[in-house]
Amino acid sequence: MATPTPPPLVLILLLLVASFPSPPRATASASPFDAALAALQSRVGYAFRAPALLRRAMTHSSYSHENGRALAVLGLAAAESAAALRALAADADAAPSAVSRAASEAASGPACARAGARIGIPDVVRVSGQTSAAAPTVVCSALRALVGAVAVDANSTDAAGEVFWRLHALTSSAAVAAV
Ligand SMILES: *[C@@H]1O[C@H](CO)[C@@H](O)[C@H](O)[C@H]1NC(C)=O
Repeated sequence: MATPTPPPLVLILLLLVASFPSPPRATASASPFDAALAALQSRVGYAFRAPALLRRAMTHSSYSHENGRALAVLGLAAAESAAALRALAADADAAPSAVSRAASEAASGPACARAGARIGIPDVVRVSGQTSAAAPTVVCSALRALVGAVAVDANSTDAAGEVFWRLHALTSSAAVAAV
């Protein structure tokens, strides 16, 4: 028994569906903020598994209740721990004051704000209308939040330390070039 031929209308519909290109889904849903976050990830050299963590890190407390402050606490601790480890790895007999200084200098406000400005955080971080996205404290806490976000994303403070050193090295070479 021969199979019945499908009605012409179905054929026409199938042809129509097949001939239309699929809509550009990615661009339709990507906001300028998402595009800025994507560019930031490539500048930092770390691709987030959970981009929501980076969104949160790049959101100042003046902008939203959901912000990067808690991530910044972790980011600061990870940066200090990476700097203390480097000091002791270089010199196992280092004085406590030297290790302490290495830790606090590497993660200090000025160094941190410089590193944040260098990777373009002022153009990315979301703040309220009354807050300047270029204010050093805003830039620094966003950078620390970024380092903390890497730690959570990778479930590893080592990964966060690597990103911290990469940003720190970028800033140091920029400082040397500026002298
Ligand atoms: C995160 O790392 C800890 C310590 O290595 C491990 O015990 C835990 O299972 C990890 N969590 C996830 C979600 O991978």
